[in-house]
This record gives sequence, C-alpha cells and structure tokens, in this order.
Amino acid sequence: MNSALITGITGQDGAYLARLLLGKGYAVHGVIRRSSTFNTDRIDELYRDPHEEGVRLRLHYGDVCDGTGLRRILEKTHPDEIYNLGAQSHVKVSFEQPEYTADAVALGTLRLLEAVRDYCEHSGKAVRFYQAGSSEMFGGAAPPQNEQTPFYPRSPYAVSKTAAHWYAVNYREAYGLFIANGILFNHESPMRGETFLTRKVTRAVGRLKHGLQDKVYLGNLEARRDWGYAGDYVEAMWLMLQQPAPDDFVIATGESHTVREFVEAAFGCAGLDWRKHVEIDSRYLRPTEVDSLCGDSTKARRQLGWVPKVSFADLVRMMVDHDVELARRERFLQENGFVVAAGALR
Ligand code: NAP
Ligand code: GDD
Repeated sequence: MNSALITGITGQDGAYLARLLLGKGYAVHGVIRRSSTFNTDRIDELYRDPHEEGVRLRLHYGDVCDGTGLRRILEKTHPDEIYNLGAQSHVKVSFEQPEYTADAVALGTLRLLEAVRDYCEHSGKAVRFYQAGSSEMFGGAAPPQNEQTPFYPRSPYAVSKTAAHWYAVNYREAYGLFIANGILFNHESPMRGETFLTRKVTRAVGRLKHGLQDKVYLGNLEARRDWGYAGDYVEAMWLMLQQPAPDDFVIATGESHTVREFVEAAFGCAGLDWRKHVEIDSRYLRPTEVDSLCGDSTKARRQLGWVPKVSFADLVRMMVDHDVELARRERFLQENGFVVAAGALR
C-alpha cells in the first residue's frame, strides 16, 4: 500500500487531497497542530477511531516550525509521498505577521526538506515530495503567467513561498531528490477558509439571503484572479508525483475575473443586488496588491494530462448553494433559541 504524509491536512487542500488519496487506496498520515479547540472539522468525515481494523488515515501532532517533531514523524510513518501544504496561507495576514509567515512558509519547507534529505539517505528510500507553491510568487509580473515568467513577489507570504520554491529546486538539484513544485493559482470550494475573498462573499450572500446580516465590507474590487476548484487542483498535485521525473508546473484555469465580477456572480446566484449590501473598508486593502493573475497551464495539460473540470460559474454556484443552506440552518437554530458558534455549522 502506498503511503502519503500531508502537512496542512486540516486545511482546504489537505482535506480534498486526503479524500483523493484514501480513494486511491493510500495510507494517509496527516500532521495536525495542537490547538485548544478542535481544528479537524474538514477531515472529521474521513476520520475513524485508530483502534478499528484497517484504518488508513492517521493523524500526528506536529508543526512545520518544529524540525525535531517532523523528523520523528518521518521515522514513524515511512511515507512514499510527502505533500507539504502546511502554511500561514493568508496574504493580508502575512503583512501583520511577516516573521511567523517566513518561519512557517520558507523555513518550514527548509526544515522538512532537511528531514527528508537525511531520511532518504539513511533509509535508502526514494521519497517523492510535493511543494505547494503559489501564483502569488508571480505577483507583479504581467499575465498570462507560466513556468517561464520571472517571480515578482509582493507580500511577505509571496516572498516566503518564493524562497520555499527555490529551496525545493536546490534540494532537487543538489541531492537528486524527487521534488515537484506546483505553482497553483487561486482555488476555492465550500471548504475554503472564511476570510478568503470568495468564501467571505458566499458566506455573506447566504446570511444576507436569510436576514442574518445586512452588509459585507470588502477591500479592492478591481484585482483580477484566476479562480479554479480545489477538488480539481489536488488531482494535479498527485499527478505531479506520478511522473517519471520531478518538474515544476503551473496549475490554472486560464480565465481571470475581477473581485467585482465574483461578487456580482455570487449575489446574482441568490437573486440579490450586491450594490445594496457591499461597502468598502480600507482595512481590507493590502500595502502592495497583486493586480492581475491569469495562468497559462499548457505544460500541465500536455505533460500531466490535467484539465480543470469545474467552470467559474459552476464554482460560484456550488459555493453559494452551500452557504445559503448553511445560513438556513443557522437561522433555524437561532429561531429555536440556540446560540450558534461561528464555524459550528460548516
Ligand atoms: P489553508 O486552508 O489555509 O490550510 C493551511 C493548512 O496549514 C492548515 O491545515 C493549517 O493548520 C496548516 N498550518 C498552518 N501553519 C502551520 C504550521 N506552522 N505547521 C503545520 N501546519 C500549519 O490553505 P489551503 O488553501 O489548503 O492551501 C494549502 C497550501 O497551498 C498552502 O501552503 C497555501 O499557501 C498553498 N496555496 C494555496 C492556494 C489556494 O488558492 N488555496 C493557491 C496556491 C498555493 P490549521 O488548520 O491548524 O490552521
Ligand atoms: N481576503 C480578502 N478579503 N480579499 C479581498 C477582500 C476582502 O475583504 N476584498 C478584496 N479582496 C481582494 C484581495 O485584495 C485580493 O486581490 C483578492 O481579493 C483575493 O484575495 P484572497 O481571497 O485573500 O486570496 P489571495 O489571492 O490574496 O491569496 C490566495 O491565493 C493565493 C494563490 O494566488 C491564498 O489562497 C494564497 O494562500 C494563495 O497562495
């Protein structure tokens, strides 16, 4: 049985990837952070009591800021494939916590690569490694962006991802490790974190529809993003590790929309007029913005045979339908005297 280790398994992509790999018959090991509240909502559906027979998903406490712990997890789990998804992944937050972001995103990757380098050497095992790179690394470079486009990072997050990317390239060249860098453009889903633009908007649409709020405050409406569906993107991660040789790939739909267009589409799905409910709050602006991302994934389409299946319109519809239903339940509970904690209904 193939086995995979996922850092960031409790995040959006980790949850989709774990589901994909379990479906393919893998044993899946996930690294989770100790937290004073439960942080496993997204994978609860996949989790079974480890005392049961034949359990294939196992969770291990760890943190990409703790190299010793990462080494111990490698020794315990003996993975064939590692997916390094763990990160402080919010661009705006990275301006507020640049040091921590660098520690988790750049140094975190380096710590894991160092652990893998040593593990491969002493075990003789050829572990395959996926590094979760980002279109944010292109930042200020003009679209369309592909593997040849020079990086121009515009946030502490993007600078850290760029460092992680180059660490990964260097470890591939220096030690002959199988390391693939995915350069993924924005991808979303009903499991997207609630403070990213798409989910913030679709959650607001659901709650507006059910009379639970009246306004939503946003920042820059003019930025363009190439938004795809997370379920499609984790397939690309897996495909990268099934190739005969490691390489780097841009994963994108090739279609971009402004934030304003996303907002219009999402409100439109619920029959609402966004102009009546959206207000601008400068606190959501970034000191340096990435104005336009639109990916050219020709290489992935040719070499991996990867194509995105979910269109922009279907993605918006999927997220709005999910969040309208979520808000309906929240309303029902409120009307029946229950206090509902944010996230409890996810
Ligand atoms: P996400 O939902 O924010 O999930 C991030 C995951 O990393 C969570 O499981 C989080 O744990 C974990 N994490 C955070 N800090 C950590 C630390 N110090 N040690 C160990 N784990 C830590 O992000 P995502 O959207 O799934 O993205 C997955 C990866 O792809 C990230 O590296 C992100 O930067 C990158 N990426 C995402 C996109 C996108 O559009 N989604 C595009 C390009 C690249 P908690 O649950 O405990 O917080
Ligand atoms: N989050 C947020 N909140 N973004 C807003 C808001 C708001 O209220 N108003 C406007 N925006 C704009 C941001 O300025 C940005 O231009 C765009 O909406 C998308 O913002 P996010 O959804 O936060 O995503 P991101 O593009 O900054 O970063 C995401 O995609 C990257 C890949 O390109 C994250 O998932 C990163 O981790 C990922 O690497």
